[in-house]
Amino acid sequence: MTVLITGGAGYIGSHMALALRDAGEPAVVLDDLSTGFREAVPEGVPLVVGDVADEALVLRTLATHQIDTVAHFAARIVVSESVRDPLGAYAANTCKTRALLGALVAADVKRFIFSSTAAVYGLEPPTPTAETAPCDPASPYGASKLMTERMLRDVSAAHGLSYVTLRYFNVAGADPQLRSGQRSPGASNLITLAARASLGLNDGLQIFGTDLPTPDGTGVRDYIHVSDLADAHVAALRHLRAGGSGGLTLNCGYGFGYSVREVIAAVGRAAGRELAAVERPRRAGDPYVSIADASRIRETLSWTPRRDDLDLIVADALRWERFCWTEKARRPESSGRRA
Ligand code: WQD
Repeated sequence: MTVLITGGAGYIGSHMALALRDAGEPAVVLDDLSTGFREAVPEGVPLVVGDVADEALVLRTLATHQIDTVAHFAARIVVSESVRDPLGAYAANTCKTRALLGALVAADVKRFIFSSTAAVYGLEPPTPTAETAPCDPASPYGASKLMTERMLRDVSAAHGLSYVTLRYFNVAGADPQLRSGQRSPGASNLITLAARASLGLNDGLQIFGTDLPTPDGTGVRDYIHVSDLADAHVAALRHLRAGGSGGLTLNCGYGFGYSVREVIAAVGRAAGRELAAVERPRRAGDPYVSIADASRIRETLSWTPRRDDLDLIVADALRWERFCWTEKARRPESSGRRA
C-alpha cells in the first residue's frame, strides 16, 4: 500500500513525504513543479512530474505504484493572487481536484486526505474556532477550498470514498533535521519574512495593523509547526487505513495564538538581536484573531504535537533560512533557487 502525495515537492507536502519515509510507509510524489522544487522530494521517494488533472497520468500512477490513499496538497495558496485571479484559484483548487477525484473513483481508490485551510471560516469567526463554526470565506482561495470540501462530502456519500479534511491554521517552521523547509523565495508568511529579515535577506519587516482589538493591537495567529502538521497527516492515514469511513473535518492548530509583536520578539531572541519593524496600516481582509479549537483532532486521531512552542518553531525556521543562505553562498550558480 502506497500513498500518493500530490504537491509533494512543496513546503508542506515535502514534510509529509519525510514523515512517511521516517514511518517506513511507501510514498510517491506527483507534482508539476510549478511552485515546487525537485530537490524538496526526499531521496528514495519517486517523483512523477505532471498535473493532478491529467487523468491518464494519474490512472497510470495509481496502478503502477499500487496507491491506496491520496494526500492532496497541490494547490495555489496565495490569498492575494486568488483575489487578483479568482478563476485561476478555482481552476487549480476546485476544478483540478474534481478531475483528480474522477480518476480516484474510476480506479476505485477509497482514501483521501485533503489540505484545507482556516481561511474557510472568514473574517470574524468565534474564537477559538471549532469545525462547527459557520464558514464564510473572505477570499476566492478560501472559497475554492470550501467548495472542494463540499464536493468531497458528496463524492464520499455516492462512491464510498473515506476522507479526512485538514483545515490548516498558520503553518511555519522547518524540518528539525533541516531536510526541508520553506524554499519559495516569494513566501509572504510572517515567520519566514521575519527570519529572512533577521539575516538581512529582505528589505526589513512591516507590521500590518497596530490598532486591532487584540491585547497588543497586532494580529494574533495559531502557528503550527510544519512537522507536527505532517504527523497529523500520518495520523489521518492511520485512521483511514484502520477503517475510518465517511468523512472527518479537523482543525490543525494548537489552540493558542501569538501576536505579530510576540512573533517578531521570538525571532529576535532566536537571532540574538532585536528586530526593527515599520508599522503599517492593517491589511484589508486580515482577520484580527485566528485560533483553532484543536480538541477534535486530538480526540479523533490521538495526535499529540511535539513542537508546540513558538520559540521552537521560530528557531527551526531561522536555522533553515541560515542553512539555505550558506548553501547559496557556497553554490552561487544555484542562486535562482533557494537551497
Ligand atoms: C500573519 C499575521 C498579518 C506579514 C495566510 C492565509 C491563510 C493561510 C496561512 C493557507 C497577520 C501579519 C504578516 C508581514 C505582518 N494560508 N503580518 N507583517 O494572513 O494569517 O494567513 O497564510 O492556507 O489562508 O490567509 O498569514 O503570515 O501572512 O500573517 O504584520 O510582513 O502577521 O497581518 O496578522 P495569514 P501571514
